[in-house]
Amino acid sequence: MLLEVRDLQVEFRTRDGVVKAVNGVSYGVDAGETLAVLGESGSGKSVTAQAVMGILDMPPGRITGGEILFQGRDLLKLREDERRRLRGAEMAMIFQDALSSLNPVLTVGDQLGEMFVVHRGMSRKDARAKAVELMDRVRIPAAKERVKQYPHQFSGGMRQRIMIAMALALEPALIIADEPTTALDVTVQAQVMDLLAELRREYRMGLVLITHDLGVVADVADRIAVMYAGRIVESAPVHDIYKAPAHPYTKGLLESIPRLDHKGRELYAIKGLPPNLMNIPRGCAFHPRCPLAQDLCRTDVPPLYEVTGTDTTRHSACHFWRECLHG
Ligand SMILES: Nc1ncnc2c1ncn2[C@@H]1O[C@H](COP(=O)(O)OP(=O)(O)OP(=O)(O)O)[C@@H](O)[C@H]1O
Ligand SMILES: [Mg+2]
Repeated sequence: MLLEVRDLQVEFRTRDGVVKAVNGVSYGVDAGETLAVLGESGSGKSVTAQAVMGILDMPPGRITGGEILFQGRDLLKLREDERRRLRGAEMAMIFQDALSSLNPVLTVGDQLGEMFVVHRGMSRKDARAKAVELMDRVRIPAAKERVKQYPHQFSGGMRQRIMIAMALALEPALIIADEPTTALDVTVQAQVMDLLAELRREYRMGLVLITHDLGVVADVADRIAVMYAGRIVESAPVHDIYKAPAHPYTKGLLESIPRLDHKGRELYAIKGLPPNLMNIPRGCAFHPRCPLAQDLCRTDVPPLYEVTGTDTTRHSACHFWRECLHG
């Protein structure tokens, strides 16, 4: 496994109380594989990613348990300077909002080139040539001319490509893309997603793709991990999840996707609201919203059960995964 997160726990100590943002997340991704991490706003997707990258706000954040193994090493045991060396070179992150992640007063060429100057000790001139090459790679037209432009001179989709180019620059083994296309319109979204998928194949990177949109991951992800209230509630190969979800929350998410063949039909929306992370419900955190909930769900936290009877590896944190799968 390239990256393996084991039972990770993160909390934020705020004036109002302790926010339990991540409550025992485990997931893994192999080289060349794409894991989609899915879940409603506030489910802990980004906080988990920030812990992996080593860019968590600490304080108020605190990692209170778990391990993050990257290429076999526990990242939580490394010194800060060792982690810094990994960032960019071995693991990189792509954020939703390219405009606020890129430096507005530097040309994109200088920003891309900087990676090679700092990490590879290249001359400015060689770094500039590398920048053009990367811009070509992510299919920014007229790269030679545009390398001299500033981030605000690019469209949203093109800026996102520049972010991807920055992340790719040093050919890291792992890229975490946190809602990389959410701010873009649908056509551009698809283009950027295709580009990511293609680059991931070509470079054989591991890709963790965070999204709250189940619709965008079908074509690009190998596996899906669904998060709820800071836990993984279901994980499975992408096609299995679409065919038959083994957790009622996943089922609700799937039924909320607009489908052309169901035009006119009302969208099923999961009733209720995500829990307050300062006061997560007892038992299964999803039980107040769950159509299958029974007494057991109100008292006992479901472990991540292995879903048996399928020929792929699947897990569900639902006491009644059988009923869900077959219902
Ligand atoms: N710096 C912080 N201080 C306090 N609480 C925080 C901090 N960062 C995140 N949180 C809390 O941690 C929880 C999980 O946040 P996270 O950003 O991981 O959600 P998410 O799943 O990425 O949601 P979204 O889809 O909105 O991006 C949220 O309740 C959030 O308010
Ligand atoms: Mg987020």
